[in-house]
Amino acid sequence: MTDRELMLLAEDARLKSYSPYSGFKVGAALLAKSGKVYLGCNIENAAYTPTNCAERTAFFKAVSEGDLEFEKIAIVGGRDEPNELVAPCGVCRQVMAEFCGDDFKVVLGNSKDLKVFSLKEILPYSFTKSSL
Ligand code: THU
Repeated sequence: MTDRELMLLAEDARLKSYSPYSGFKVGAALLAKSGKVYLGCNIENAAYTPTNCAERTAFFKAVSEGDLEFEKIAIVGGRDEPNELVAPCGVCRQVMAEFCGDDFKVVLGNSKDLKVFSLKEILPYSFTKSSL
């Protein structure tokens, strides 16, 4: 699956965003090595702290279905038409580090642009299971 195809799925996932407090809608599409794609959106809460980011929604769906190995994730977000690139928050990067290697691809996009990073680039010198 191409990065652009995965991004189109992330755009669909973004439409499901439950974000009445921030109005900031994020979608993610996570490609597992099994070939399955897991979609996620951000899910907010009146108590704010229980909010779950789109990326973690996608990861937790996958892991809870037994998929533990991943190739890449596409992420798209914004208030209206996404025209800025949205980078994953630190907590989501840490979740990625739990399940993915240094070369896991993080694809950030909007309607015109795609930028691809490796997990190592966006989370250098990370704390992982090999640190324990
Ligand atoms: N959010 C995500 O879903 N993913 C990110 O990478 C950054 C932030 C969500 C959390 C919250 O619902 C909203 O965007 C504003 O922070």
